[in-house]
Amino acid sequence: MSTTDPLVNVINHPLVQHKLTLMRRKDASTNSFRTLLNELAMLMAYEVTRDMPMQDVEIETPLESMTAKMIDGKKLALVSILRAGTGILDGFLSVVPGARVGHIGLYRDPATLQAVEYYFKMPKEMPERDVIVVDPMLATGHSAIAAISRIKALAPKSIKFVCLVSCPEGVAALRAAHPDVAIFTAAIDRQLNDHGYILPGLGDAGDRIFGTQ
Ligand code: URA
Repeated sequence: MSTTDPLVNVINHPLVQHKLTLMRRKDASTNSFRTLLNELAMLMAYEVTRDMPMQDVEIETPLESMTAKMIDGKKLALVSILRAGTGILDGFLSVVPGARVGHIGLYRDPATLQAVEYYFKMPKEMPERDVIVVDPMLATGHSAIAAISRIKALAPKSIKFVCLVSCPEGVAALRAAHPDVAIFTAAIDRQLNDHGYILPGLGDAGDRIFGTQ
C-alpha cells in the first residue's frame, strides 16, 4: 500500500527493507530476529528523530571555541507497549541513550481483539516532553489507540507512533482516532486476517522476539 498522507511515513531505506525481509522469513532464529529488530529500530530512530529541535551551544575544541549544535529541550519519552515494544525500545535507546522510558501493558482480548490495560508507568514532566510510542505491529490499531489515548491525558508536547509492520486497517484506524499523531512504519502490508494478524506480516512479534512460540 502506498499513501499520500503526510503523517504516514513508510521508511523505504534499503537497509531497513533488507533487514525486515530477513526478519519476516519463518526460519529466522530467535537470536537473529532480535538482533535484526534492534538494528532496524536504530535505523528507524534516525528517521523518526530527524525533526528534533536543536540549540546552539558554545564549546571548546582542542584548537578553538565554536558555536555547535545540540538537541534542545527536555529528554524524549519513549513509550513501549508491552511486551513486543521492548524489542524496538532497545534499538531506540542505543541511539538516544538519555531518553526517558514509559511502559504501558496491554493485552488483546482474544475474543474481542480489544486492548485491555494491565500496567501504566510514565516518566515525570510529560507536558514538557515529546513522546515516541513503539510497538512492532500496527494490526487492528486497538492497542496503539488505547495507549495513545492514555498518554494524551498527560498532555505531552507531541506524540509519534513507530512500528515495523502495519496494515491498511490499522493505519486507517489510528489515523481516524488520533489524526495529530504521525505514524512511522517500515511496511504497510496487504491486510489483517480474522484473528487480527497481519498478512503477509512476520507472525507474532512478541513470540518471535522472546522465543515463546
Ligand atoms: N501482533 C503481532 O505480533 N503480529 C501480527 O501480525 C499482529 C499483531
